[in-house]
Amino acid sequence: MADTEIHKGLAGVVVDYTAVSKVNPETNSLLYRGYPVQELAAQCDFEEVAYLLWYGELPTDAQLDEFTKLERSQRTLDPTVKKVIDELPLSAHPMDVVRTAVSVIGAQDETLGLDPTWIDRDLTQQRSITLFAKLPAIVAYTQRRLWGKELVEPRDDLGYSANFLHMTFGEVPEQVVVDAFDVSMILYAEHSFNASTFTARVIASTLSDVYSAVIGGIGALKGPLHGGANEAVQHTFEAIGTPDKAEAWLEDALANKKKVMGFGHRVYKNGDSRVPTMLTALETLTAYYERPEVLEMYHALDDAMNARKPIKPNLDYPSGPAYNLIGFDTTMFTPLFIAARITGWTAHVMEQLAANSLIRPLSEYNGPEQREVPASEKN
Ligand code: ACO
Repeated sequence: MADTEIHKGLAGVVVDYTAVSKVNPETNSLLYRGYPVQELAAQCDFEEVAYLLWYGELPTDAQLDEFTKLERSQRTLDPTVKKVIDELPLSAHPMDVVRTAVSVIGAQDETLGLDPTWIDRDLTQQRSITLFAKLPAIVAYTQRRLWGKELVEPRDDLGYSANFLHMTFGEVPEQVVVDAFDVSMILYAEHSFNASTFTARVIASTLSDVYSAVIGGIGALKGPLHGGANEAVQHTFEAIGTPDKAEAWLEDALANKKKVMGFGHRVYKNGDSRVPTMLTALETLTAYYERPEVLEMYHALDDAMNARKPIKPNLDYPSGPAYNLIGFDTTMFTPLFIAARITGWTAHVMEQLAANSLIRPLSEYNGPEQREVPASEKN
């Protein structure tokens, strides 16, 4: 075999520049367009962060007004999308339902057609805002359908997160809940060249359209090594049962070489920069819902892990139980991640298109040497 260096999983490989966000594992920090994410979470709404990720600057009041009007005007669930969702079996994973809904929106976009307008900057931006505006309706309806409930129409007098929760639960919860949910959306919005964003960029690099890139991103996000981990954390908490059993559960999991979901990260090795902010949101929720045992479980498993391996929680560890407390079904947690990450994915698609080079790495062949097809096969 040739002495080519193989970068399995592309670990440590820098493939391009990005100005969208900076993940710095040395300082455990994450900047969106230069702003620390925890400051954005404390001072901005998710709509402002979406604007920042797309346009590179926080909006002025007038820009935000125009942007929110545009977003609010597109919140309704399209009847065809609803019809397609209604045809899907209730057993379908919500990630697959949302992926299908995005596909329907793309196929209905008359500006897409057969003409290669796929990479037009303005159209890609408009399509991104459309998906951003419509995903809460899709995710909320997917959840309500599982509960056997009717669609709730959007309200254009509410901000993004309040409306999202209104469409899901049929009422707007207390502001502390809306704020915690909004923080989770901001923290999930963007994270440089993670697996789903890279997938979206690979698709964009072929000059395909933004819907296709998003659908690919959803596929990559579904896996438990990436976004699916927030669901898995909830399953873990339920499997453990009570905090006093966390240590024994972990011992057994590690002895059986199991990955503990919600722990570890490809880039951060000393903790995920987003965890402290999401943990604070989780603390607020456990106090509000009077569910201290959730926090006890969180710390029991974290402490048990800490005592055995230097592997720290990632964002999915506090966000999974937070979404459970708010009232979402476990299978809805990763679709919530889609609603947030749509901003980062599409910002990266536009960045990719602005300075495109087809993403096509090499591989080192390690199959059989060249050989002849047996004579019998040729007849
Ligand atoms: N539980 C137990 N052991 C772990 C974990 C974990 N969660 N994560 C890493 N390790 C161990 C591995 O077993 C391995 O040990 P070894 O060297 O003795 O074999 C070592 O740490 C290195 O792990 P890798 O999987 O090689 O590290 P990599 O950088 O490829 O993995 C990943 C990162 C995939 C996130 C991994 O930590 C993992 O599987 N975590 C659980 C899934 C998860 O929570 N994903 C969410 C990611 S963040 C997000 O999407 C918001």
